[in-house]
Amino acid sequence: MASGDLGAYNIEDLRQMAKKRLPRGIFEYVDRGAEDEIALQHNRDVYRSLKLRNRVMVDVSKRTTETEIFGQKFAMPYGISPTASAGLMSEGGEVGLAQAAARMGVPCTAATNSLTPVEALYDAGEGNIWFQLYMWKDLALRAAFVERIKAIGIDTLLVTVDGSVGANREHDRKNGFSMPLRYTPKLIAQVLAKPGWCLRVLAPQYLKRGVFRKANYPPELASKLTDKYIDHEHTKSDSQNWDDIKRIRDMWPGNLVLKGLQSWEDAVIAADVGLQGVVLSNHGGRYLDTAPAPLQVVPEVRAAVGDRLKIIIDSGARRGSDIVKALALGADMVMSGRPTLFGAAAAGEAGSYRALEIFQTEMDRVMAQLGLNSVDEISPHVFWNPPDWAPVVKG
Ligand code: LAC
Repeated sequence: MASGDLGAYNIEDLRQMAKKRLPRGIFEYVDRGAEDEIALQHNRDVYRSLKLRNRVMVDVSKRTTETEIFGQKFAMPYGISPTASAGLMSEGGEVGLAQAAARMGVPCTAATNSLTPVEALYDAGEGNIWFQLYMWKDLALRAAFVERIKAIGIDTLLVTVDGSVGANREHDRKNGFSMPLRYTPKLIAQVLAKPGWCLRVLAPQYLKRGVFRKANYPPELASKLTDKYIDHEHTKSDSQNWDDIKRIRDMWPGNLVLKGLQSWEDAVIAADVGLQGVVLSNHGGRYLDTAPAPLQVVPEVRAAVGDRLKIIIDSGARRGSDIVKALALGADMVMSGRPTLFGAAAAGEAGSYRALEIFQTEMDRVMAQLGLNSVDEISPHVFWNPPDWAPVVKG
């Protein structure tokens, strides 16, 4: 029996465990990025390049990482990004993500492409569930889907807008991996090379739940993950535009957040059409390979929108110090997808929780080292030799 820390002392440890346990094509689908993986690497490089100044002899004995966003209190300014594949990491992996988030007290974003129905995740997440929407082409199906999410009681909807065309991920093609899953000879060989995964994930999935399915899809779009006919034609829309967002705004009374933008101009429009927030994101380096790191554009977006929007960022955070850096640059919250997926692959719910615990304990420790007692005290003052794109320190 593994001890509480699972032998994982940081997110990279969980990643290495996931790599050992998952068939290669599945691991690389999660782990890798688009084209030359410039954005994937750059996201990490930018976080790593920022240096924090310690402050000493400050009483930090009452410090807390707690925060409030959209009127709800969370254990830290961190949330789980939507991801399509937790059910491939561990049996019912999405349920484990939702439970881990509830146990820690952070939001978990259920995904349109989840392999478990959103209703089950809402129950498992004890209400800490946000929902991520991919706007299907068919307007009636889309509207019915938004109504369904509303009826569940979910109050925060993230609309992902950077995937209007498919991504160029060459490693997936080399590995014979695709979503929908196709049992190509290459993938079958990789699956057979990981008998533990077959026993832990594949066999229980088939016995208890049947074939992998995009569980949220309506009958008109529903299919097994192994079917060929359902593809981007129905689920991606390269004609999507601000009118689509306005339509959802009219239907959705709760918090509406746009995910996947990178420019201050788009953020200003998002505020003008009445949204509550944005997730600055390069999709973890999985779409536009020469995108800036979201961290780099936080200051210009904050300068453009002021307090009109909550600014959340994802793509690349792997340490508690990264959360502090993002907040110091003007973000309200950080999200990421891969760390809790690696945790799920390593040890199901316990592994996903471990990823959250690592972020929380690291953030708490760094706050103490910087002499900070609350997230409100995190400001550009924390940087040593800040880059020229950082906000100017006042006073
Ligand atoms: C991806 C899509 C599912 O990044 O968001 O693979």
